[in-house]
Amino acid sequence: MSWDTLITDTHVATMVVDDTPWGAIQDAAVAIESGKIAWIGPQESLSGDPEQMAGEVISLSGCWLTPGLIDCHTHIVFGGNRVAEFEQRQQGISYEEIARRGGGILSTVEATRASSVEQLAAESRGRVQALITEGVTTLEIKSGYGLDLDTERRMLQAARLLGEELGISVSTTYLGAHTIPKEYVNHVDDYLDLICDEVMPVLAAEGLIDAVDAFCESIAFNTAQVERVFDSAQSLGLPVKLHADQLSDSCGAALAARYQALSADHLEYTDEAGVKAMAEAGTVAVLLPGAFYCLNAERKPPVAWFRKYGVSCAVATDCNPGSSPVVSPLLMMNMACRLFGMTPEESLAGMTRAAASALGLEADRGTIEAGKRADLAVWDITHPAELSYWMGGDQARGALVAGNWLQLS
Ligand code: NIG
Ligand code: FE
Repeated sequence: MSWDTLITDTHVATMVVDDTPWGAIQDAAVAIESGKIAWIGPQESLSGDPEQMAGEVISLSGCWLTPGLIDCHTHIVFGGNRVAEFEQRQQGISYEEIARRGGGILSTVEATRASSVEQLAAESRGRVQALITEGVTTLEIKSGYGLDLDTERRMLQAARLLGEELGISVSTTYLGAHTIPKEYVNHVDDYLDLICDEVMPVLAAEGLIDAVDAFCESIAFNTAQVERVFDSAQSLGLPVKLHADQLSDSCGAALAARYQALSADHLEYTDEAGVKAMAEAGTVAVLLPGAFYCLNAERKPPVAWFRKYGVSCAVATDCNPGSSPVVSPLLMMNMACRLFGMTPEESLAGMTRAAASALGLEADRGTIEAGKRADLAVWDITHPAELSYWMGGDQARGALVAGNWLQLS
């Protein structure tokens, strides 16, 4: 037998759900063949001398391995920034008030509309690289700062381009229903016609959309409007996700569940009935502590109910220029623990196993087990809880996508 690669002298947090915390295997080896995990187990169970068993043998000298991190909710492609609004918020003007005055998402729309695909990719590259430096191997990127066909297309093309250039997997999400563009302020139904009858079908036909998202909120779209967007998505065979119950209880979680959404995200105001509906639909809760922290939010997502009803909880950066200018997945894991009361194991599951489910990718990613893609992150740590413990640091030592090493910086 000869594998392509055999990784030795490592400890593995497989994140497989079994009787062992973290699905951990100490003193382990992992074999990779054709980009997939071919074997994993205690190194002493290998049937022969490692050197004879693979084309390439890599000793990790005691470093830990985890599944490659999956950042399952980002708006990382955008033009410009909103640092001036950050200053305004520090003077006491709220996020909602800034949005009502025509700033907020709309100001990023203006900057994004003025940017080419190459400019968007160039402005966003450093942010994506920062995620990779902390072990991210799969990344979701939403559109939603163009709103018109051409700019939404450029955003999604820039997202795909960054994935190809940097060697990571990018899942693209069409978020046309992010906000009402200023040219449609008094004609929301016409904007919904544009999204549903033109932009979404065209971009789907171009292969640029993996899922469809919407922002259900008093400052964005109401339930009936989101339903229209979701009906169109489903008629095109596209899965849906929802920004739900972030600033108020808009019954977003229940709405997402009715459409068997892959995920409902934010969820600070979700009630118990909404959590139960998510559990029944298998909808993942995506928790975004960066937005909670940056907006100085008061209400926390109902983690105790998610546990009680068995809803998987993912954790993501929500990287965006307004509510969450965050490019550190590890800091989000720390905040998921410190702000939302998750355990370090839950927060790593949130950036791996649950995040894979939030993207519909659980069949080949999110845990380390035979048959899954060899997407791995290497860490210089003594225990996997360290990933949620440090705020800042330099723990990542490398990452592989389908068995190929990524350039970390
Ligand atoms: O996930 N909630 C809506 N969308 C983003 C914020 C986008 C922005 O402010 O630019 C979010 O928080
Ligand atoms: Fe978001």
